[in-house]
Amino acid sequence: MTLPAATRSVHVRAPGKVNLYLGVGGRHDDGYHALATVFQALSLGEDVIATDAADFSLEVTGAADPDSVPTDDRNLAMRAAKLLASATGYTGGVHLELRKSVPVAGGMGGGSADAAGALLACDALWETGLSTTRLHELAARLGADVPFAMMGGTAVGTGRGDRLTTALARGRYDWVLVTSDGGLSTPAVYARLDEYREHNGALADEPPRSLDVPPPVLQALRSGDPHALAAELANDLQVAALLERPDLQTVIDEGVACGALRGIVSGSGPTIALLCENPASASAVCDRLAENGRDAMHAYGPVPGARIIG
Ligand code: C5P
Repeated sequence: MTLPAATRSVHVRAPGKVNLYLGVGGRHDDGYHALATVFQALSLGEDVIATDAADFSLEVTGAADPDSVPTDDRNLAMRAAKLLASATGYTGGVHLELRKSVPVAGGMGGGSADAAGALLACDALWETGLSTTRLHELAARLGADVPFAMMGGTAVGTGRGDRLTTALARGRYDWVLVTSDGGLSTPAVYARLDEYREHNGALADEPPRSLDVPPPVLQALRSGDPHALAAELANDLQVAALLERPDLQTVIDEGVACGALRGIVSGSGPTIALLCENPASASAVCDRLAENGRDAMHAYGPVPGARIIG
């Protein structure tokens, strides 16, 4: 009697992110906006475990509300596994377990991290031999933030946010992330921004403004000084996220009153990212916000992109 070969698994960790700077330009015909952004990968990440299987299946653990995450083809990790299979001609399947730590629909790239993790885990499990360039191409097809979850560190993103170059950054930055009930839909927040700009004539009679990351943002990152970076944090989507969720301004103000250097909406929100002076200050801010009844977590960046840990 032959025993079945031991079931093989690959365990990948992929980071969530915060946008230190997010400049949004005009909307292209494909619905995507031109971006100039700076991403930082955070220690708050997702674990993706891919196990050999005949078919494709997915389970979600760890999320505050696991039922809010689809387990079918609407899940970006499932789409990533199937895209890799079709790109390489792989005829088997995979069971994916997503152990989620990044807030769901929170503006921190949790779904993109899941997709990057699934791509890397399946690539290793199936021994596809694809080049890193080809994996990044597949990542970009899945979503604008997926290539960054593969790359990690601190990076400038242009195009749809998927054309990446490494940013020189010194030191470690301590963040407190405040989550709130009810996610925000990224397309809805972008649409709100378009409406807001149209209504205010912001882009109508002005020449398109240059979409570069302002040099002071990059200088602040090179200095390694959180005070300098705090002064440069900016997010064009914040005005739109605050129109959807005016209560988020109170969270930002409360974070600063509790000792954070500055707070911004993370990506399309509703998570608020508070930059703190150092690890001790971040823990104190976390404790004070928790006393106020807020869900606050301490994380730091930059950390590496999606990587195999077992
Ligand atoms: O690429 P991803 O699926 O993460 O994007 C989610 C949504 O965010 C898009 O469908 C689009 O509405 C919006 N988006 C955008 N411009 C970008 C990136 C995302 O309008 N550069």
